[in-house]
Amino acid sequence: MKEIDLDQLLDTAVRAAKTAGRHALENKARRTEATKTYTHDVKLVLDAECQKKAEGVIAAEFPDHAVLGEEDARPNASAAYEWIIDPIDGTVNFTHGFPYWCCSVAVRRNGKVLAGCVYAAEFNACYTAHIESPAMCNGKPIQVSDVRNLKDALIITGLSKALEGDPERHFSRFQTLALKTQKLRIVGAAALDMCHVANGTCEGFYESGIYVWDFAAAGLIVERAGGAFSIVPRRDDTFTVFCTNAHLNNEIRAIHEQFS
Ligand code: IPD
Repeated sequence: MKEIDLDQLLDTAVRAAKTAGRHALENKARRTEATKTYTHDVKLVLDAECQKKAEGVIAAEFPDHAVLGEEDARPNASAAYEWIIDPIDGTVNFTHGFPYWCCSVAVRRNGKVLAGCVYAAEFNACYTAHIESPAMCNGKPIQVSDVRNLKDALIITGLSKALEGDPERHFSRFQTLALKTQKLRIVGAAALDMCHVANGTCEGFYESGIYVWDFAAAGLIVERAGGAFSIVPRRDDTFTVFCTNAHLNNEIRAIHEQFS
């Protein structure tokens, strides 16, 4: 199969993420329309609508590519290219009107992520990278920070939706991270959290129990911004993910191993 130009893939990812993100923003008045609610999560009518918007952009350009989305999947066993979409990452924030959410679109070929875009519509921030480009925000190159010690670091984390399964372990790890860093934050949208590592406004991100659509685009953006990005598959379909600037990956890994 002919390889597709990386700029063309990235351009499609950007258009898909912006189309979905703008649809969510324009329809914010409908943000509480839910199809399902869970203890620590919610599925919105707009999640599915935004997914369709992103898929439409991709299908118009690449009708034979596969799609793996948080809201549904269009598998195509023969397709080398697969698009990974999280139409609204930070859904709980979005439904409350808290502006920290984004749309994430990545494309991988034979399992390797080639290009990705994270678009935070409320902040008009569009983070992008492909495997041969620098990471950018709104077209300007971004870089991870140079903070060298965890005690001086701002780290973002999240608490798993499956918290009830093992609260002690989650909170022990949370406590260790909080004690070892200058500040630990939970803001609620993994893809956007990771883009803040990429642009150097925080030093690291750690979360256990997240899905490929939460980190596929942002992981590449962190790497292309000079950071380190690690994923550890778990027993279910989820992953433990940590990414940092170039200095702090081993320290975060050590905390991860302490609680594994
Ligand atoms: C969620 C967000 C959140 C993280 C959850 C994710 P969603 O994604 O990224 O920060 O804590 O684990 O599932 O469900 O809003 O797309």
